[in-house]
Formats: sequence, structure tokens, C-alpha cells
Amino acid sequence: MKKLFYIKTFGCQMNEYESLRICKLLEEDGYAAASTYADASVIILNTCTVRQKAEDKIYSELGRIKKYKKADADILIGVGGCLAQQEGVKLLKKFPYVDFIFGTKALPRVLQLIHNARKGDRIADIAMETTCQLYSEHPYKPQPGQISAFVTIMQGCDNFCSYCIVPHVRGREWSRPADEIVKEVQSLVKESVCEVTLLGQNVNSYGNKAIPKTTFTELLQQLDTIKGLERIRFTTSHPKDLSPELIRAFGCIPKLCEHIHLPMQSGSNRILQHMNRQYTRQTYLEQISHLRTVAPHISITSDIIVGYPGETDAEFEETASLIDEIKFDDLFIFHYTDRKGTKASEMPDTIPYAVKIDRLKILNERQRSISLEKNSACVGKSYEVLFEEHSKKGDGCIAGRTRSCKVVNCMGPESMIGKKGMVLIDKAHIHSLTGKLI
Ligand code: SAH
Ligand code: SF4
Ligand code: F3S
Repeated sequence: MKKLFYIKTFGCQMNEYESLRICKLLEEDGYAAASTYADASVIILNTCTVRQKAEDKIYSELGRIKKYKKADADILIGVGGCLAQQEGVKLLKKFPYVDFIFGTKALPRVLQLIHNARKGDRIADIAMETTCQLYSEHPYKPQPGQISAFVTIMQGCDNFCSYCIVPHVRGREWSRPADEIVKEVQSLVKESVCEVTLLGQNVNSYGNKAIPKTTFTELLQQLDTIKGLERIRFTTSHPKDLSPELIRAFGCIPKLCEHIHLPMQSGSNRILQHMNRQYTRQTYLEQISHLRTVAPHISITSDIIVGYPGETDAEFEETASLIDEIKFDDLFIFHYTDRKGTKASEMPDTIPYAVKIDRLKILNERQRSISLEKNSACVGKSYEVLFEEHSKKGDGCIAGRTRSCKVVNCMGPESMIGKKGMVLIDKAHIHSLTGKLI
């Protein structure tokens, strides 16, 4: 049987990155990537369970892939990631055609699980050790010509926001040693990478538990000295760990790009307190103002939850008014769903679905006009764009991002992909800009 694998990824960038890691492990073992499920001898779903919709998507995908196993009993199906961590052996019982389960800490054991599954052992590996040797033992090699890469610098979360499943499925916070991260970025840069995105569930609490202690800002300073590295990004930050030192970094670390994703969740102090977010509307506003003083062109994006249990109309209005006041560059708005095992799920989910959706629509509508207004302010100005790919539209356009993480499409030669160029913006859209290469 040919060794071909197909991985489908759900969820956040951390999961995307971990799927890349799994690909590398499989390739080291002689597997090659298949281009469809139908061609694969091993199918893997790397899953997410952050909201009900994420979970539902995976169950429907599991329904869809059953036919491949039916057509060929030798195909192995594995389910990994956050939903796998949460459900464990229950998934094996519910889906008899699934062969192996690997939780969020079991990545380094995927090959062993496949090997066991070939012998007929259906194992759910959801052990939760505190550290994972994957990063040091299997250095990540980028694809030839790859210019942008993720680097996981910390994992897990100790915050236990009341609504959130992540600490339950990803375990406690754990930071990689700074020297190991610096070495990894140096070796990425030696290949072809010039932009790195540092990843963590709560990335700016990096170092709170690292030995020897290095703060997140110190890590950024160390990375800034790497020759050949041009852009540094990070995601996702928590307002409670946004130190004045880190805010100042946006003004004095040259390679740090002017963009921060800073989830606000709600504009109501009562809800924020209930969510255990550990900041207030006022302190969040102060941070935004401080960021904009240090880096006037910084783009700020955020996450919002509407319909949290007990959220009144007035509390929802507080969120809406804060959005109007701050004017984020972009927003990800979610309606609350219960996640079993979380604190919020112990309360009745009081807000009717229709009300949640109404609130979601209202905020989305407002944000669309704010995003357009923000992007329109870029028209007539020129920006440094790092070109990453052909534009999704086809038509000979190339696409890249500004330092502030805005997508720019323009006509340009293929030879610009992987390079930086200045673009004069002539048109603004809600989620992107278009312009001319100068
Ligand atoms: N680690 C990141 C991301 C967590 S999940 C952080 O701390 O921000 C991404 C977003 O999903 C969260 O910011 C939140 O807005 C949303 N989310 C998490 N749990 C949710 C739930 N139970 N219902 C609705 N949205 C949720
Ligand atoms: Fe979830 Fe809060 Fe941790 Fe983010 S900080 S992963 S929202 S518990
Ligand atoms: Fe989802 Fe897990 Fe990421 S629950 S959002 S894949 S950390």
C-alpha cells in the first residue's frame, strides 16, 4: 500500500502549525501528501472545539469521510487536536471507523499510533504531560521558498476565562526556552523565511514560567537582532498581560509589525468580571490609547462574544458603544455557546438564539462600515507590502500584507512574490486594499 496522507485542519493558527508539524513527521517516515481524501492511505482530522459550530463541523466531516473507509478497509482514519483531547475514547466508540485518537500533547507519538492502528490497536492517546519535546527534537524545516512561518513559543493557558474550553484541552501554560526559539528562527531565516508569527494561546504571558526567565519583550528584542529577519508578528495577546514595556516595544523594536490582535470580548465591566478577564472597559481603553500614542498607525483587531449568559440589552449596548469608540481595524464576533466543563456552562444559557444572532448581525454591520472607513484612510498613501502569493482573484494580481497586516492586491510580476515592494493604494474594500506597485 502506498504511504500517502491527507490532513484536514480545523480551528486556530496553532492547529494549522501543528498540522504542518504532523506532515513533517509523516514525511520523515516516508509518507507523501495526497491531494484528496480518496488518494490517501492515512486520513487525519486535526480538530477544534472552541465553539459549538467548530465541534459540529467536525462531526459532519467525520460523517463525510466514512465512505472512504467503506470503500477500502485498509485506510486509517485518525482524529487529533482539541476535540480529540476532549472526547478521547468516546470518539472511538461513536465512530467505529475511526482508528486512532491523539490529543493535543500526543503529536510526537502520531507515527507510533499509526503503526499500532495498522496492527489493529485502536488507541486514544490523550495523556497530558506538561512539556512536549516535539520542537527541540524535530526542528521545523520550511518549504523551499517559504517566506512566512509560524513559531510556537508557548502552549496552554492558565487563564480559565469562564466561557473557554482551551485551558481544559490544551493544559497549563508552558513556554519554550528563549535560546531554542532564537535558534529556530535563525535556521528558518537561513532557508528563505523573512517573516515570523510567534504563536501561543496567550502569547504575551510568554516567559511567566520559563527558566531562565525571559520576558516576552526581551524575546522580541533578541529576535529583532537576527540578520535577514524582516518582520515579527505575534498572536494572540491577552489585555491583562499587555505590559507598558510591550506597548513601548511597538515604537522601538524595528522589526515588530504594527498590528495587535487584542481580544476584548465585551464592553461591560460586569460581564468582563464574570468572564474572569481581569481588566475593565477603562483599562482596555487606556491600553488602546497608549498603543496608538506609541505607534500611531498600528492596526488593532479583536474578538467579541455576544449573548454571554445574562447579557442584558444595556450590556450589549456597552459593547456596541465601545466598538464605535475604539474603531477596530477588524473584528471577529462570535455568539456565545456553552462548552461543557467551563464555568459559564454551569449557568443557564439564558439568551435566546435569535437574540444572539440579532446582536451578532448588529455588530457585524457596524464593523463593516468601520473597517471600510479605516481602510479608506489608506487610499492615496503608499505602504511596504511583503508579497506572498498570487491574488485569489487570479487575473495576474499578486497579494501581500502591509506591516499592519492589511491584505493588498496589485498587478505585479510573479518575481515579486517573496519580496517587498511599495504600493500606492487606490481603492479600499472591507477586508482588503488594492493599489499600484511603485
Ligand atoms: N487564546 C485566544 C483565543 C481563544 S479562542 C485568546 O485568549 O483570545 C478565540 C475566540 O473565540 C475568543 O477570543 C472568544 O472570543 C471566542 N470564544 C471562546 N469560547 C467561546 C464560547 N464558548 N462561545 C463563543 N465564543 C467563544
Ligand atoms: Fe481561552 Fe481566555 Fe485562555 Fe484565551 S486567555 S485561551 S479566551 S481561557
Ligand atoms: Fe480550537 Fe484548540 Fe485552537 S479549541 S481555537 S484548535 S486551541
